[in-house]
Amino acid sequence: MVTEITTSDAERKMLSDAGYADPAINYYLEKKYMGCIENADQVSEKIGSCGDIMRVYLKMDDHNLIDDVRYEITGCAGAISAAMAAVDLVKGKTIDDALKMNDGDVFKVLENIPEKKHHCIQLAVKTMHQGILEYKNRTIM
Ligand code: FES
Repeated sequence: MVTEITTSDAERKMLSDAGYADPAINYYLEKKYMGCIENADQVSEKIGSCGDIMRVYLKMDDHNLIDDVRYEITGCAGAISAAMAAVDLVKGKTIDDALKMNDGDVFKVLENIPEKKHHCIQLAVKTMHQGILEYKNRTIM
């Protein structure tokens, strides 16, 4: 019997061999917060030291809690998994609580990614913070 290996199985194995833990791999493969929000309250963009680009879209609810977030990313698997995990950490939070989210929190959710990819977590977190701060400065202050 021939066992069929799907693309996602192959990608999963490759990422696992490279040092990505299962939660990080799942975030990367699912990409559940990738894309844009048409009527976003804030759109902000950041370029990482590696030259990769992230754009974050924020949607707030009537109580000024973070209702939804999407990222557009030209970047690596580390960047994508970190950004997706960052969204789960801030959804439903106040602006001030969301600003407390840091690289360590994202790393904990991912469980592990290769050490040389840690700066990708920083890019995801910095982009999120920039979006939140720009929204805050524009609307609240
Ligand atoms: Fe650029 Fe990961 S290498 S974000």
